[in-house]
Amino acid sequence: MILVTGATGCVGRAVVERLVNSGHAVKCLFHWGHEHPAPRRVVITGGDVRNQDSIYEALTDGGECDTIIHLAFIRRETKEDKFEEVNIRGTENVIDAAKRAKVQRLIMVGCLGAEVRSPFPHLRSLGIAEERVRQSGLNFTVLKSAVIYGEGDWLTRWLNQIARNLPIVMPLPHGGYTKLQPIWVGDVAACIARSLELRSTFRQVITIGGPQALTLADIAKITLKAKAEQRRLVRVPTPLTHYLVSFLSRFQDMLSEPEMDALSYNRTAEIGSVHRTFGFAPVKMVPERLAYLSPGYQPPPPPVRFKPRSPAPVAALDPASSQRMRARIRALLGR
Ligand SMILES: NC(=O)c1ccc[n+]([C@@H]2O[C@H](COP(=O)([O-])OP(=O)(O)OC[C@H]3O[C@@H](n4cnc5c(N)ncnc54)[C@H](OP(=O)(O)O)[C@@H]3O)[C@@H](O)[C@H]2O)c1
Repeated sequence: MILVTGATGCVGRAVVERLVNSGHAVKCLFHWGHEHPAPRRVVITGGDVRNQDSIYEALTDGGECDTIIHLAFIRRETKEDKFEEVNIRGTENVIDAAKRAKVQRLIMVGCLGAEVRSPFPHLRSLGIAEERVRQSGLNFTVLKSAVIYGEGDWLTRWLNQIARNLPIVMPLPHGGYTKLQPIWVGDVAACIARSLELRSTFRQVITIGGPQALTLADIAKITLKAKAEQRRLVRVPTPLTHYLVSFLSRFQDMLSEPEMDALSYNRTAEIGSVHRTFGFAPVKMVPERLAYLSPGYQPPPPPVRFKPRSPAPVAALDPASSQRMRARIRALLGR
């Protein structure tokens, strides 16, 4: 069985769907206290990567796991969630829990530009997390990915929000000249699924990206086309990007200043790296792939929503562990 942390995120949902469709037994770690649609044909368990025991229980309780796909990370700090605790300590907890549970295989999706010495706190924390994985002694694969797009991604959601809030113009930081290499989330899921079997990915850091290097302006145009809307692109030069951040901060879902700063440099992988390693060509970013932004889009109705309660350590949907829980309660009550 494969445990997926961050199973409810943009990448996690695509990975779970891909694995289930290819016949893998999957256990999803849902963040304690957060409600999300529950995928079909999986075991769901609650937990928090900041709590090592919850990861250990997820790995061992009600169907033992032999692989972890670690995708539970944050992009933005809040009062409760800090990069140090979730991205770094959380990854250390996943590694330590894996060792306790004798799980050998760990796959993580890292980020192009994530370096231990990155000046950007988010990328620095991901760089440290990657290093912990590389030094873990486990059979790891780190997929160091270019920006990922698909339903719920941060990039097209942010551009969509700007277009929603501003009627005529679409301002772009750093002149919109930054080169990215967007990769479709379905292709990232395919790379992860193939990493499970491909020995050439074992103990490797592999960079992945889409088939084209596109500027932020190109991506904005594709996003607008998918929305069937028109805006005049306004190229805001880097020295004025600070003013753009404060202007946009009045709207929801906007990038913070460090996030906007991190968009100032090109982040591309070698074109062809996915094909060379995984044997398929990733799809181009075209408006049809962004159908989730189109005006008539109807998301499929989620079957049920599930909210694991902290500190309930085990899934309500996992019958074996529910039975054990009931037995424990009966023992406590002396019945
Ligand atoms: N999206 C991109 O452009 C991109 C590019 C390169 C690499 N990556 C990498 O891909 C991975 C996944 O990214 P994503 O875009 O899918 O992120 P996402 O949509 O923000 O999802 C993050 C997931 O982590 C969960 N999570 C957060 N804190 C947690 C905690 N303390 N305990 C347990 N679960 C927690 C979230 O659950 P809740 O929402 O319930 O908190 C959510 O399921 C990350 O490693 C990221 O660095 C992403």
